[in-house]
Amino acid sequence: MTNGIFIAGTDTGVGKTLVAGGMAAALRKRGADVGVMKPVESGCPKEGGRLVAQDALFLKEMAQCRDEMDLINPYAFEEALTPALAAERAGVAIDTARISSAFQILAGRHGLVIVEGAGGLLSPLWKELVVADLAKKLRLPLVIVTRGSLGTINHTLLALYYARKERIPVLGLVVNRTAPACGLAEALNAEALRRWAKAPLLGLIPYMERPDSTMIRQAVEQHLDLTSIVENAPKPKCP
Ligand SMILES: Nc1ncnc2c1ncn2[C@@H]1O[C@H](COP(=O)(O)OP(=O)(O)O)[C@@H](O)[C@H]1O
Ligand SMILES: [Mg+2]
Repeated sequence: MTNGIFIAGTDTGVGKTLVAGGMAAALRKRGADVGVMKPVESGCPKEGGRLVAQDALFLKEMAQCRDEMDLINPYAFEEALTPALAAERAGVAIDTARISSAFQILAGRHGLVIVEGAGGLLSPLWKELVVADLAKKLRLPLVIVTRGSLGTINHTLLALYYARKERIPVLGLVVNRTAPACGLAEALNAEALRRWAKAPLLGLIPYMERPDSTMIRQAVEQHLDLTSIVENAPKPKCP
């Protein structure tokens, strides 16, 4: 195993970037040397003829690291599609060996590297490969970010089922509230996940009105069991 954590999600838009960035900033504030990676990003707007990988840039800013964008984000695509489709339509082949070598360089520079996946675990990455295969190739344990709303139990259990079937270690779940609604499902689902998921519940991130970098870091500091995450992750050099 290498010194990193793979932030997976039950879906796109569940808060992988927010949680990964918040973790990077919180660990950085504690004095840890954290690297970040968003190996494949699609839906990147073009500015001045160049694609802007917004998740990757946000993660870099939150970790305050100086690594080259080519290492943090080896593959960027304009169309907001699953990686395999975005790559095919851009005429680019995704080479997991390239991602792996970028990761190894970052892992050599930092105590811990936080890697954000793309979409969900079964999102097609390239040909027959899915996003979960990337976590496997990098030999990283998962933190699975999930919604708190109705439907999340099924999605979360499916993600866990697949991770376990593929023998990918799971450090735990982060329930993230991406919407202000707080009905019966939101009130009961975290406890329901604790009951049925049989995976550690690492925290519950509340909904934030217009979250900025400081709010995101503070939400992670207040609501996530970071110590348990880094202690269970392989070889982190954290204070
Ligand atoms: N806890 C939260 N409170 C408010 N907005 C959130 C929260 N978590 C995520 N969001 C917003 O939801 C959107 C999707 O989150 P993001 O982290 O980009 O998801 P993913 O990386 O899984 O696609 C973003 O606009 C983000 O700012
Ligand atoms: Mg993201």
